[in-house]
Amino acid sequence: MNRLRLGVNIDHVATVRNARGTAWPDPLRAALLAEAAGADGITAHLREDRRHISDADIERLMAGLSLPLNFEMAATEEMQRIALRHRPHAVCIVPEKREERTTEGGLDVARDENRLAHFIAPLREAGCRVSIFIAADAAQIEAAHRIGAEVVELHTGAYCDLHAEGRLAERDAELDRLRQMAGLADALGLEVHAGHGLTYETVAPVAALPELRELNIGHFLIGEAIFVGLAPAIGEMRVRMDAARG
Ligand code: PXP
Repeated sequence: MNRLRLGVNIDHVATVRNARGTAWPDPLRAALLAEAAGADGITAHLREDRRHISDADIERLMAGLSLPLNFEMAATEEMQRIALRHRPHAVCIVPEKREERTTEGGLDVARDENRLAHFIAPLREAGCRVSIFIAADAAQIEAAHRIGAEVVELHTGAYCDLHAEGRLAERDAELDRLRQMAGLADALGLEVHAGHGLTYETVAPVAALPELRELNIGHFLIGEAIFVGLAPAIGEMRVRMDAARG
């Protein structure tokens, strides 16, 4: 099976920094450490309310990273302008609600198909790989394909929540849905990524899905880094991903 890339999401290094309004901990330093620890990419979500990553962080990441940056953003004109200025390797379009604690669901591409097709066209022309963050749902995958996205990232949050709540039959059904939808997306020629809520406990069955090319993991790794350090946390995740891949 092909090697699965690990994208490390550094948003919550900025969350800790912003709790005090100081300059540390520094997300760029975390990104460079992640790179040295074997990450294949860095993910950062510039939210409309700037609750974690800031505009200055994106500038510094673009200037200081050699790994590809996966820039997560809502489909707004402001974010499109920022993305077109920086031209990151990848842009991942996510839904965003001010009141949510984290990205709660996937994007409803099927309902907003026409607008999103026009929205992503200039990003693609600027050379960014456009990824759409969606639930494991056939209608959303087909719509993402029709609008010209190159990548879909399947939302693993529901699978992880069901695992944490001990609802194992429902968790397995959600995993089955992820498996089938990864197959559908791959058959349509989309590159398939996955992420949200993944931990040491939940990563293996997802990493074992053969069509997947990349996982994006943040909150758990940054939390685990408090106890063991960022490099060992990333190293352990990498070991589990590789073991699951056989
Ligand atoms: N992928 C996407 C599209 C996300 O929005 C997020 C959270 O910002 C992640 C992956 C990472 O999720 P987590 O921080 O729960 O690992």
